[in-house]
Amino acid sequence: MTIDNVSTPCAANATTPAAPANPANPATPSTSVNVNSPIPANPANAAIPANANSLNHLTSAPQSSSAPRTIHVPQITLADGHLIPQIGLGVLRIDDEGVTPVVESALEQGYRHIDGAAGYENEGGVGRALAATGFNTGKARKSLWLTTKLKDSEQGYDSALRAFDRQQALLQVDYVDMYMLHWPTPFDWRSGETWKAFVRLREEGRVRTLGVCNFLPEHLERLHEETGEWPTVNQIELHPTWQQREVTAFCRAHGIAVEAYSPMARGADLDAGDGVVERIAGAHGVSAAQAILRWHVENGTIIIPKSVHAERQRENLDLFGFVLDPAEHAAMDALDGPTRAGHDPMTFTYA
Ligand SMILES: NC(=O)c1ccc[n+]([C@@H]2O[C@H](COP(=O)([O-])OP(=O)(O)OC[C@H]3O[C@@H](n4cnc5c(N)ncnc54)[C@H](OP(=O)(O)O)[C@@H]3O)[C@@H](O)[C@H]2O)c1
Repeated sequence: MTIDNVSTPCAANATTPAAPANPANPATPSTSVNVNSPIPANPANAAIPANANSLNHLTSAPQSSSAPRTIHVPQITLADGHLIPQIGLGVLRIDDEGVTPVVESALEQGYRHIDGAAGYENEGGVGRALAATGFNTGKARKSLWLTTKLKDSEQGYDSALRAFDRQQALLQVDYVDMYMLHWPTPFDWRSGETWKAFVRLREEGRVRTLGVCNFLPEHLERLHEETGEWPTVNQIELHPTWQQREVTAFCRAHGIAVEAYSPMARGADLDAGDGVVERIAGAHGVSAAQAILRWHVENGTIIIPKSVHAERQRENLDLFGFVLDPAEHAAMDALDGPTRAGHDPMTFTYA
């Protein structure tokens, strides 16, 4: 798994300092960095990173605060070679009508990665946004990463194929970049059987890569035993107060990219640690959300923060003008605790 750059045009954010220049990599955003291990925060490398383990892929060229500037969102190279933008927009808890302007706004801000699901009941609205903006076909479609997920109740070979037909029609696209099992439902395990349908969709070119969500190591091992495959991505609840280190270590050891959902604990972590997050943010002149999201990025984690507000969408993408120093990064690490914001994969089903 490696990281590359991708440039997305983004309006200037006057509250965030322009990122340092990157003379080591001035024109082409093609530097690859191995992130099987987390990227260490390294303030010494903040201005001019000098080597492949540095953060030079996370910087953007300095420009005047009033001019539009380009944010280089890194891309993670998955085990099967596909490149996924490290930051995406989550669309959970937005209704079908409301999600259309939200996705349009995110595309305008520069997002090129949308994270949806059948269970969010808004794939039609996402599809309408893609069609209205032209991101459902041609060159624009190629520039976009679109994830969706199968409902737990539609697991099984035939039902998964039928579900994907419906989802693809709603999304109005020829292919989906990533199709995911939403929950492992170990009390009603059908992941192995369902995976065969996923493989067929991949062979037919309707899906590019196959992922899972909420899988614990025992679920990943069971899937591997039954199918001979590891998913390329495991999307799990992950934020400073719920870091799931055993799961992330297992994933990294098996070449599975880790994607953090609820990366800010749905907002609850913004004031975590008795003001620790706010103090770190204040030291860099950024928001608490940006400080947390930057910590994720430095860990090599894919993130999909959700916001319905254009200003916050822009803020959540604008993470490359500052670097947490090692003490700040460690302070964020130290917030780990048993503070799950969502559900337990052993017992939960999204249905
Ligand atoms: N696979 C799964 O089982 C699973 C489960 C849960 C979530 N997910 C995915 O992960 C995505 C993100 O997770 P999430 O929505 O649960 O939580 P989140 O992204 O951690 O937090 C979203 C909340 O934070 C607020 N927010 C966003 N940006 C902010 C900022 N810059 N400053 C202050 N507040 C901000 C949002 O409010 P506003 O919208 O009002 O700005 C919203 O209330 C979901 O949308 C979904 O795509 C997947």
